[in-house]
Amino acid sequence: IPVDPFDFIIFGGTGDLAERKLLPALFQRQQAGQFCDPTCIIGASRAKMTDGDYRSFARKAISDHVKAEEIDAKQLDRFVERLSYVAVDAISGDGFANLKKAIGDSQSIRAFYLAVAPALFGDISAHLKEQKLVTPNSRIVMEKPIGRDLVSARALNDQIGKVFSEQQIFRIDHYLGKETVQNLMALRFANALYEPLWNSAHIDHVQITVAETVGLEDRLTYYDKAGALRDMMQNHMLQLLCLVAMEAPASMEADAVRDEKLKVLRSLRRINGNEAPKVTVRGQYRAGASANGPVKGYAEELGDSGTTTETFVALKAEIGNWRWAGVPFYLRTGKRLATRVSEIVIEFKPIPHSIFEESAGNISANQLVIRLQPDEGVKQWLMIKDPGPGGMRLRHVPLDMSFAESFRERNPDAYERLIMDVIRGNQTLFMRRDEVEAAWAWIDPIHNAWDDSRQEVQGYTSGTWGPSASIALIERDGRTWHES
Ligand code: BG6
Repeated sequence: IPVDPFDFIIFGGTGDLAERKLLPALFQRQQAGQFCDPTCIIGASRAKMTDGDYRSFARKAISDHVKAEEIDAKQLDRFVERLSYVAVDAISGDGFANLKKAIGDSQSIRAFYLAVAPALFGDISAHLKEQKLVTPNSRIVMEKPIGRDLVSARALNDQIGKVFSEQQIFRIDHYLGKETVQNLMALRFANALYEPLWNSAHIDHVQITVAETVGLEDRLTYYDKAGALRDMMQNHMLQLLCLVAMEAPASMEADAVRDEKLKVLRSLRRINGNEAPKVTVRGQYRAGASANGPVKGYAEELGDSGTTTETFVALKAEIGNWRWAGVPFYLRTGKRLATRVSEIVIEFKPIPHSIFEESAGNISANQLVIRLQPDEGVKQWLMIKDPGPGGMRLRHVPLDMSFAESFRERNPDAYERLIMDVIRGNQTLFMRRDEVEAAWAWIDPIHNAWDDSRQEVQGYTSGTWGPSASIALIERDGRTWHES
């Protein structure tokens, strides 16, 4: 369905995010027939460039990041015609008057996308206000990191809040734009089957894994100040946990969903100083192997042998409410791990009593495995009888639904969905201020505990599943990580 015409202004228009994600996503949406004229896209950054330069930049970005067979040459020509460029200085405010001229008297929906360092968010929004560029029809999109702790997140939210109302602020967590993450809501709330079992009476525990094979990827300065707890756990991992654990919202309306996620965040049991070494693991990759050959260790890549930044974190979270009391949520994420996989595993409780003889074999607990990437799909593991006349032998097999096999459509990138939601003004898949702050309020004590106790950062060989302490964390409870 086409959306109303809009002006899309990208601060950081020549940056990595614009190149890899935003321009390709906008192009795909135009190609899908969602744009109406006169939709315009304006790149803004410090570099001196002409409109022509920016159009060439966008052409290259699209040919580098969209599959050749998905590019219609005419569509691409049409797309670059929509583009223009304005040089701005976010700190001094130089160039904002030119931005105003470039937008002109357009009455279209206006989206300002902050694909820049968070330190510039406040200045940019102040300059937008000064130039009277913020109309009732405007929205602002913020990329993470939204702060590095609760205090800085509040300060950032305050700065933006001076210029934009909460209904105009779209805080992106791109995991919420992933098809399979949204499918989690469909699975839970469009089926009658799971919801009655979705609680501590029937679920033994939950595992959430987001494993990456990449290392630092040229993000030295950002990553070393952040670390995995801030970079992944505070946002993507906790959002996934919320979608698994939340109560059914009354509707898909933005605040209905966000209210339920917030309740989960506020029910997370705080991990205090004494507990942290028992329920959290911090790791850092050492030299090892990747699919493409040998790789350096994190400290070596960074060129700082003294760094204690974690590239891996595993932890056991508990949700103190009626539905989840006593059900641990084991979360782990890291870089340079054995494979790239993101998945959620719901492990149900074992059967209360077996009627089968020992010779039938072990009865494994039912598991629901939701694979977010790659090879998106859902597997429900069940026990069945092994076919054949050999008597009763039991086997654990999956009912397997693979997205690629079941659906022919291209799986759109998360940014395609999210950008269109910004234009439509639909905030369901964006984080509200109180959610972001509640997530920091839970993460901060873990950081503090790590700092106070100097909890060791354990080395792990690149290409493995992280430090052995992560395996011990779950095995102490008589459970094991699901093997992907
Ligand atoms: C980003 C993190 O938010 O998510 C990166 O900053 C990480 O460190 C990335 O690599 C993972 O996203 P995806 O979509 O590749 O799983």
